[in-house]
Amino acid sequence: MTLILGIESSCDEVAAAVVADGHRVLSHALASQAEDFAQWGGVVPEIAARGHVAALPGLVAEALDQAGTDLTAIDAVAVAAWPGLLGSLLCGFTCASMIAVRRGLPLLTVDHVEAHLAAVHLERDQVPYPLVALVASGGHSHFYRCSAPGEAELLGGTIDDAAGEAFDKAAATLELGYPGGPAIDRRAEHGDPRALDLPRSLLHHDDLRLSFAGLKTALLYAVRGPRGRDPLRLDEQGINDACASFQAAVVDCLAGKLIRAARACGVSTIAVGGGVACNRGLRRRLSEDATAHGLTLLLPRPEHCADNAAMIAALGHRHLRAGRIAPPHCTPLPTGAAGPRRR
Ligand code: KG4
Ligand code: ZN
Repeated sequence: MTLILGIESSCDEVAAAVVADGHRVLSHALASQAEDFAQWGGVVPEIAARGHVAALPGLVAEALDQAGTDLTAIDAVAVAAWPGLLGSLLCGFTCASMIAVRRGLPLLTVDHVEAHLAAVHLERDQVPYPLVALVASGGHSHFYRCSAPGEAELLGGTIDDAAGEAFDKAAATLELGYPGGPAIDRRAEHGDPRALDLPRSLLHHDDLRLSFAGLKTALLYAVRGPRGRDPLRLDEQGINDACASFQAAVVDCLAGKLIRAARACGVSTIAVGGGVACNRGLRRRLSEDATAHGLTLLLPRPEHCADNAAMIAALGHRHLRAGRIAPPHCTPLPTGAAGPRRR
């Protein structure tokens, strides 16, 4: 059995996990600062980094404890090293490097977006390749053709906002606080998705581009007047309806283009990852679409879709098997190496 300690700290969440053989999650400990950022309307990098520094030692101890193990049994340490906020990345990177150096363990530096793709392996013995996957998060909304574990070809994606960013901005328009995705998801359950007529940009174009900027602006004008500056005058049901309408538009685009991608690539398996893949409307819709098109849908558990350390350990396991150990001069990179490796 190979045990990897994974550490994730690229944005506002910080987490540690122990994963066996690249897919069995033995433990996961996470500290979120989302509530602290509600008052700021978004992530404040310096505050995030300070929170990570304070939380990391306890999270690592908790993850080892929950897994019923200690550092003597760990085979390697994996850490998300790009892309992300530099201060945040440095916290996890420094912690992982210190443990690796102190214990003489291999250090595995992994790509956060590629790790969202690797999450499909968690709690699953076999993953049928080739497959087409969507990563929809706060910073990415892209489609990949994955021919084998770790082999991802970028097919297309958003030309402006990421889906998660659009959810967060829509929530700000509706005064629902940060992060917006979960709040919209909760309220959409009680709203009418046909209440507002919102655009599905590029949905009927025969390509894999997504665009959410127009949708975000359409919502703003619909609820806050033609200049987008009027006070919000919706009652509770009106807000629920706006959430349901907005969510339905995003879901139509993500699901529609994912099915298009699967057909274009001739694959019979689709998968999703990233925080937006927690969205209940999207999960329901993808299940229906997969059944209708005879596709197998791989839907990781919500806690493995949002930022987590188990996916970092899962990808780290693959790096370890491939002998891809971080060189001594390695440093984290905020803009990312190149996203998932392209062929
Ligand atoms: O993958 P993730 O945790 O972090 C990044 O890598 O960005 O994704 C965070 C994004 C946020 O924009 C958040 O609003 C969105 O995922 N999100 C959701 C839901 N849960 C998180 N969006 C829609 N519905 C949800 N239930
Ligand atoms: Zn993420």
